Amino acid sequence: MKKKVLFYSLYERIWHWLQALLVIVLLITGFEISYASYFSVSGFKTAVLVHNIVGIFLVLNAFLALFYNIAGGLIHRYIPAIEEIFSLGFKHVSYYIFGIFKGLPHPFDKTPEKRLLPLQKITYFVILNLILPVMIVTGLLKYSADIFPQLVEMFGGLSVLGPIHRFGAWLFAAFLVLHVYMITTGHTPLANLISMITGYDYVSSPSEEDN
Ligand code: HEM
Repeated sequence: MKKKVLFYSLYERIWHWLQALLVIVLLITGFEISYASYFSVSGFKTAVLVHNIVGIFLVLNAFLALFYNIAGGLIHRYIPAIEEIFSLGFKHVSYYIFGIFKGLPHPFDKTPEKRLLPLQKITYFVILNLILPVMIVTGLLKYSADIFPQLVEMFGGLSVLGPIHRFGAWLFAAFLVLHVYMITTGHTPLANLISMITGYDYVSSPSEEDN
């Protein structure tokens, strides 16, 4: 029997959708700044201003979420175990390459306690703990180039920081495409999206913990 349970707290949903909005605005304005002669939505000056302000909100949102997850003892959810990276990860990849097209059942059950499946855990770990911090540090250094030129030089100068920041942005764009595809692979194509909006989803076996 299916039971409706809470997967995402209100704060987690607000964090997620705010983060999504901020990242999308950063990608659009960043694209506009980088390719100003080919692509313009608001004009170069406005794009720079919006990019800087939204970047600051992204840093605040990321640190608040880090605090929420550490203080709430929830951070372990985002740290993949060795078996999730290897054996379970391969099982998950092989489902997305073969199983899903053969109509095989999903190899893992999503529950509130284990709501991140191996591939999601690995992807979110890389995005949130590696690419996001690199984007924040390179972005802040680029922003402060006029104020702390020596500090910026210590990191290789703008000619190094610029390409790293742009490469990270392309990785974020690739993540978004993959992420949006992956969320359609729940028990129904819209189930994951609905759960990230309402907080609720259905599990096969009853689960006590509504976190
Ligand atoms: C168009 C933009 C986006 C949409 C439609 C979207 C949608 C979703 C949905 C439906 C889920 C729940 C299913 C799942 O766990 O995969 C989810 C989870 C998640 N998304 Fe997104 N997302 C977007 C952008 C982003 C961005 C930009 C980030 C990070 C920078 C992000 C990070 C995450 C994380 C970490 C989770 C797992 C949350 C958890 O279970 O603790 N998403 N997203």
